Amino acid sequence: MTLPPPVDLGAPLPSPVPSAELVNRLAVRRSAPAQGLTAPGPDAAQMAEILTLAARSPDHGKMTPWRFVVMGPQSRAEIADRLRTMAVQKGLPSKAQAVLAKLVASPVCVLVVSTAAPGAKPVWEQELSAGAVCMNLEHAASAFGFASSWITDWYSYDVDALPLFGVTEGEKVAGFIHLGTPAEPLLERDRPDVAALTSTLP
Ligand SMILES: Cc1cc2nc3c(=O)[nH]c(=O)nc-3n(C[C@H](O)[C@H](O)[C@H](O)COP(=O)(O)O)c2cc1C
Repeated sequence: MTLPPPVDLGAPLPSPVPSAELVNRLAVRRSAPAQGLTAPGPDAAQMAEILTLAARSPDHGKMTPWRFVVMGPQSRAEIADRLRTMAVQKGLPSKAQAVLAKLVASPVCVLVVSTAAPGAKPVWEQELSAGAVCMNLEHAASAFGFASSWITDWYSYDVDALPLFGVTEGEKVAGFIHLGTPAEPLLERDRPDVAALTSTLP
């Protein structure tokens, strides 16, 4: 699927009209287990469109405090080999090696890197923007018919692991967003009691 040609992206938009299709899609939104994501994943053209949609995210001060690394299976397999060795050297629990199955399985993975730094807007707001990009990326992938899984795991926080992904000092992993086709139907999980989490002011 390719997107319809944009009418005029710079033109003022009227108020959005209700979309039952979008409501229904959001109502059943759920993640796929990353280790169960198989081919097909987005091809290069679809990936470019998905990233364009993901980048259309709130960004206070237009700082663009994030960047993408699109990772195919080969790079992730090579990095996972090195992470396996690292996990042993660091004496991490065996689970640290087991979770690498989630890193390598999907056909395509987008690493969203937060590049937030002190500047015109608070770092926290810049990091929130990176989170919004991750979520929009998942929604955009869904619009193209792909399932997704947002993964961090230990290597997202390990100073020795981060350089393997090209994450430099001062940057943070917002998420590894794995994209593909689920091997099994996606199960629902318990959802929060929204009313209990919501207070209302007049
Ligand atoms: C910032 C962030 C990091 C996450 N990291 C992991 C992870 O490392 N491993 C994992 O299994 N799930 C992780 N998740 C959770 C899943 O992506 C997923 O959201 C969760 O299982 C809830 O399911 P749902 O998306 O269907 O609501 C993370 C979610 C967020 C927002």
